[in-house]
Amino acid sequence: MEKIEIIRPDDWHVHFRDNGILKAVVPETTRHFARSIVMPNLLPPILNAKQAIEYKKRIENAIPQSDNFEPLMTVYLTEKTSKNDLKDAYNNGAVFAVKLYPAGATTNSDSGVKNITKIMPVLEMMAKIGMPLLIHGEVTDPNIDIFDREKVFIEQNLDFICKQLPELKITLEHITTTDATEYVKEGNKNLAASITPHHLALNRNALFVGGIRPHNYCLPLLKGESHRKTLVDAAVSGNPKFFLGTDTAPHLTKNKESSCGCAGIFNATYCLSILAQLFDNENSLSNLEKFISINGTYHYNLKVNNEKITMVKKAEALLFRKYLYIGKQRIEIFKPDFPVFWSIAN
Ligand code: DOR
Ligand code: ZN
Repeated sequence: MEKIEIIRPDDWHVHFRDNGILKAVVPETTRHFARSIVMPNLLPPILNAKQAIEYKKRIENAIPQSDNFEPLMTVYLTEKTSKNDLKDAYNNGAVFAVKLYPAGATTNSDSGVKNITKIMPVLEMMAKIGMPLLIHGEVTDPNIDIFDREKVFIEQNLDFICKQLPELKITLEHITTTDATEYVKEGNKNLAASITPHHLALNRNALFVGGIRPHNYCLPLLKGESHRKTLVDAAVSGNPKFFLGTDTAPHLTKNKESSCGCAGIFNATYCLSILAQLFDNENSLSNLEKFISINGTYHYNLKVNNEKITMVKKAEALLFRKYLYIGKQRIEIFKPDFPVFWSIAN
């Protein structure tokens, strides 16, 4: 049996939701990860320090006693966000980062930003104090093809922000294209990107295998195979600009299997096994630790975790549980279309 020991990982992008879903999904993340950046796109969104502190308490109440886990909170940037409140929230430790959703880009993003120039004073302040900006990088213009929206966001918005504020710490989240990968590689030192397990595992064909597959629907959409390959190369390369953000995004099955299904893939349960398998398939297991446990901590100026986890490769493929139950309701657990032999031993 093959075995690897690695520094306990962090997940730099999770959706915990609230109430019953929160209680069910939090342990799926805290079982393995030491820290996570928690997205603020609740309904209504987390807009200020007070709401972030209250939300953090609800998350902490859902962490099993056996798990040692720190949620890092974010606020949802709007054109009305107060610069001074945000500065205080960062300086007193209530809020770790700010999330920029272009209005209408994804789940619960209606209160997001329409006009980037309106938020420049807030971003300037963030650059000065070192507060990270997390970006959902897609334009929302219905005239732009949905597969091109990440590329166009980079051209129309991200490039402007990076040039105006090279000192601003930016994470281009859940990148999906060669365009984004190249832009981040060549960009200034404060620009990095997170990558999800599902964008590494699947290409857009997975949306239409013998019929429409709502459980593979996420935003940004899965892209073509050449883009997926570029993402895999970036992830396994060990390049410090790329790290894990699972974007684990639970939705009840009934809301995914619908005439207007929600975007989001719930991948928390097996994400580390899937990533180990992906890295193994690329003969790059020696860089797994960089991607899941080290690179993100450098970008966010944090210390790497002290604890270790052990992963083992078994002869038999892992059997995936299909659902996470919330009372009588359920959430589909992400499973890739290749066998996974790795699991976590401790
Ligand atoms: O697929 C996604 N789901 N992408 C996002 O950007 C949001 C997320 C969610 O909140 O469900
Ligand atoms: Zn997300």
